[in-house]
Amino acid sequence: MSVNKEIKKVTTHTLQLMKSAGEKISMITAYDYSFANIFDSAGIDIILVGDSASNVMAGHETTLPITLDQMIYHAQSVVRGISRCLVVVDMPFGSYQSNPQIALASAIKIMKETGGHSVKLEGGDEEAIDSVKKIVSAGIPVMGHLGLTPQSIYKFGTYTVRAKEIDEAAKLKKDALLLQEAGAFAIVLEKIPAALAKEVSESLSIPTIGIGAGGDCDGQVLVMHDMLGINVEFKPRFLRKYLNMHEQVTGAVGQYIKDVKSKNFPNENEQY
Ligand code: KIV
Repeated sequence: MSVNKEIKKVTTHTLQLMKSAGEKISMITAYDYSFANIFDSAGIDIILVGDSASNVMAGHETTLPITLDQMIYHAQSVVRGISRCLVVVDMPFGSYQSNPQIALASAIKIMKETGGHSVKLEGGDEEAIDSVKKIVSAGIPVMGHLGLTPQSIYKFGTYTVRAKEIDEAAKLKKDALLLQEAGAFAIVLEKIPAALAKEVSESLSIPTIGIGAGGDCDGQVLVMHDMLGINVEFKPRFLRKYLNMHEQVTGAVGQYIKDVKSKNFPNENEQY
């Protein structure tokens, strides 16, 4: 029997049990009530209310513009749609970088106003670690995020694979251990070599969740718009599309338009 099937509600403790049992953790992003409800009913372990909402919901080029209040709005909608999975809410750019006290205030606001179960923040430098410690000491579970950290896109300049060089790989391994020591309950590893992700996953007692980081992470995450084929332009090597929603929705709406124009819709059974 899998750990996933035995439990009524996924908690950070469940994820730890899953890692120990070698059971992979499934995570997907969601930003609204309806999709969260579908994903939760399908049995997903974690929903991430990602700051990728800035891209896929609001149409911005980067994750930087989304605000704390906008993240809270998305998270509130997601939480209303779930009954079983763990909800992680991304802390948006500017809500935690300045100091641990501000980070804690932002995390508390997220927890109080959304009903979410945990927060995620990017990076593993000294300030990020201090913020993780501060937030965890207030009783709020924190997920870390290393490798490609989209909030630092203007520092890196590209969305290419990270930590291919020895120095950057060594720093990532060190940061992962520091995050674990600071009390993080899991770490997202984004777009790093699979061999490095395997090494990090094996060195940590907490689970790693990969995106473009190979099959040896303890779990996987995808952005819902990418895996459902809503976003057709985005085609990185790591992405598996499970649906071609763009094509299906275009077909359905095209048919609806035709039916309205040809007076085929509504027919006599579709009226009062
Ligand atoms: O915001 C997001 O969707 C994320 C995932 C890519 C991990 O952080």
